[in-house]
Amino acid sequence: MTNSVEIKNLDLSFGAVKVLQNLNLDIGEGEFLVLLGSSGCGKSTLLNCIAGLLEVTDGQIHIKGQNVTWAEPSERGIGMVFQSYALYPQMSVKGNLSFGLKNAKVPKDEIEKRVARAAEILQIEPLLDRKPGALSGGQRQRVAIGRALVRDVDVFLFDEPLSNLDAKLRVDLRVELKRLHNQLQNTMIYVTHDQVEAMTLADRIAVMKGGKIMQLGSPDEIYNQPRNLYVADFIGSPSMNFLEGQLIGGAFKLDDMVMPMTGYDFVAPQTADRPVVIGIRPEHVVTGELVRNAPLQFEADVDLVEPMGSDTLVYAKLGQHAFRIRMDGQARVKAGETLAIGIDPSRASLFDKSTEDRL
Ligand SMILES: Nc1ncnc2c1ncn2[C@@H]1O[C@H](COP(=O)(O)OP(=O)(O)OP(=O)(O)O)[C@@H](O)[C@H]1O
Ligand SMILES: [Mg+2]
Repeated sequence: MTNSVEIKNLDLSFGAVKVLQNLNLDIGEGEFLVLLGSSGCGKSTLLNCIAGLLEVTDGQIHIKGQNVTWAEPSERGIGMVFQSYALYPQMSVKGNLSFGLKNAKVPKDEIEKRVARAAEILQIEPLLDRKPGALSGGQRQRVAIGRALVRDVDVFLFDEPLSNLDAKLRVDLRVELKRLHNQLQNTMIYVTHDQVEAMTLADRIAVMKGGKIMQLGSPDEIYNQPRNLYVADFIGSPSMNFLEGQLIGGAFKLDDMVMPMTGYDFVAPQTADRPVVIGIRPEHVVTGELVRNAPLQFEADVDLVEPMGSDTLVYAKLGQHAFRIRMDGQARVKAGETLAIGIDPSRASLFDKSTEDRL
């Protein structure tokens, strides 16, 4: 795969505050890359550096093989969609879509063609003569995406484009964005703090913390093989159960509980005994008929039950330790019950307690 965007040893500081430090990231041609992380971790800063809206302190940015580190935003072949759509209120949708092209002196019939194509892709043809004030939030957001689309760029940059929308619309537009990417096959770099958006849209996710990339991988890798405790905790809702214990002779031990890590894929073939944290996803704990076939079987004491319709979240105690279990929506379980549970160590994650890295 050829690279569409390459970020090399990027540093960015605001005065004395280092926001990005020696950041490296290669984004493939046609890839949908999501920058995911909590507020303040530097996602927008990184995107703005790629867009040319911020001057980098050190390092280089290449787009399509060209060093664009010092190029103007308009020379970079990028289109950007922000969280706030910032449409011109006095112009029609069509006016908003064509404004940038007129300024760039694109011939009139070419403008007509591009606007018509973007309107068709985004299904906003019936809205072309309306002003933004007469559009719903979702429709406005589609116009904002359209404004990037008409520019016919190689790389699209999105900064939390859906976060101002209500929950249902977010899901609808998320699906449309994925469809759009399947259709256009452009490179897309998408910033969000919403893990569901990241998991559903991305070819690869870069999980960021404090201006650094903690893990770069496919949604499957990020979910199943989190590289450290931070990523493990950040991805998944409800988050992983974490239990602190000891790794002794290849088994996890805590109080009188012993979990041989049979089938677990250790990062290094020989892993010495040490204090560890085991992570077990609530949805990977089995109950009922399935317990019999599970490699490890325990009993949990049910504290509280949250029926959520599609599934049931059970807050329990495993020995002395809080432990969440996700059961299906039809589960009939009550507080005070003892619940037989099954755990498969091959689906768990083990972390060194002091380095917090995956073992
Ligand atoms: N112009 C600025 N001057 C000084 N510090 C800034 C400036 N812009 C951003 N920062 C700081 O840089 C850090 C990263 O900000 P950034 O906007 O990239 O975060 P983010 O990951 O996009 O967060 P959010 O999810 O809240 O949008 C923050 O600590 C922020 O306070
Ligand atoms: Mg931001």
